Amino acid sequence: YVVDKGNHRHFMEKEIYEQPEVVSHTLSHYIDFAEGRVKLDSSQIDFANLDRLAMSACGTAYYAGLIGKYWFERFARLPVEIDVASEFRYREIPLSGKMAALFISQSGETADTLASLRYCRDNGLTIGAVVNVRESTIARESNAVFPTLAGPEIGVASTKAFTCQLSVLAALAMIAGRARGTLSSEDEAAMVQALVELPRLSNEVFHAVQPQIEMLSRELSRFKDVLYLGRGTSFPLALEGALKLKEISYIHAEGYAAGELKHGPIALIDENMPVIVIAPHDRHFEKTVSNMQEVAARGGQIILITDEKGAAATTLETMATIVLPVVDEIVAPILYALPVQLIAYHTAVFMGTDVDQPRNLAKSVTVE
Ligand code: G6P
Repeated sequence: YVVDKGNHRHFMEKEIYEQPEVVSHTLSHYIDFAEGRVKLDSSQIDFANLDRLAMSACGTAYYAGLIGKYWFERFARLPVEIDVASEFRYREIPLSGKMAALFISQSGETADTLASLRYCRDNGLTIGAVVNVRESTIARESNAVFPTLAGPEIGVASTKAFTCQLSVLAALAMIAGRARGTLSSEDEAAMVQALVELPRLSNEVFHAVQPQIEMLSRELSRFKDVLYLGRGTSFPLALEGALKLKEISYIHAEGYAAGELKHGPIALIDENMPVIVIAPHDRHFEKTVSNMQEVAARGGQIILITDEKGAAATTLETMATIVLPVVDEIVAPILYALPVQLIAYHTAVFMGTDVDQPRNLAKSVTVE
């Protein structure tokens, strides 16, 4: 199996553009598109009889898990305990027989994630693993393996593995919702329909935003600090956006829940720190707009990533407004990941960094 860059400058770029295909491939493993329903038999976890789900991972996989937590709690009414694996493994979390544990890992070899898995297994929990490498240690030591079908990911900064992890978590949250009787078949059908359209919409988004993001990234490459804000599932995506930017461009970036702006980061706002706001026109939109106004009132420059409705609903002046199609809330984090990744990628390209192998970072961290 030969992996090459094809017509792309970097593996990361190639992997970004592969997403419509690999996300669709992954989704079809868990969803029966003809029936408009999730495949219940694709999960060996007895979601109906759980009172809590423990989740853990590192890096980008952890942010996928954080988004998954919102979905499991909202659609399956299943409380989720989640932490980065380096903390999870030492916290001595009380675990009970009515819990299962889910670990997320591209490589399936991350030392802290594996140690967290073993802690849960030793406490008698059923273990599920969302992994990209099927032959990995984490996959082998789990009771149930939920593969992401992203194919080999070479770029150190994770892109397609992340959106495939989100796809699996979305499907699992729907499966759990159905098993627990908290997700109506109408809602399930609407969510499946939204997921069906995702690959096509992703290609449209690439086409629509790529030139704009290249121009924007040239400007961003002049700054030393960038702040990302979001609410709901856009909050973990803000964390992921900041991680992506800092790891490949070396620009200092932080992600914050938009509602926490007042509790600290607002002190940093001036014309030298652009603020990237991830805000689909969802039930959080108005609140996020008021946070944007607070940024604007202090001379902050805003880059708004929103949808057609959101763009029409705000008159605020921005450095750039990136407009995506209006989508169902289960699809939004997957679609919004694309411009977020492209911003990091193009900014790093302008900075001239080693995009696929950023300094000091490893693709897989197999030591503690
Ligand atoms: C490293 C990689 C990240 C990845 C993290 C977790 O930090 O550079 O891209 O998200 O490890 O790796 P895993 O293989 O467990 O998903």
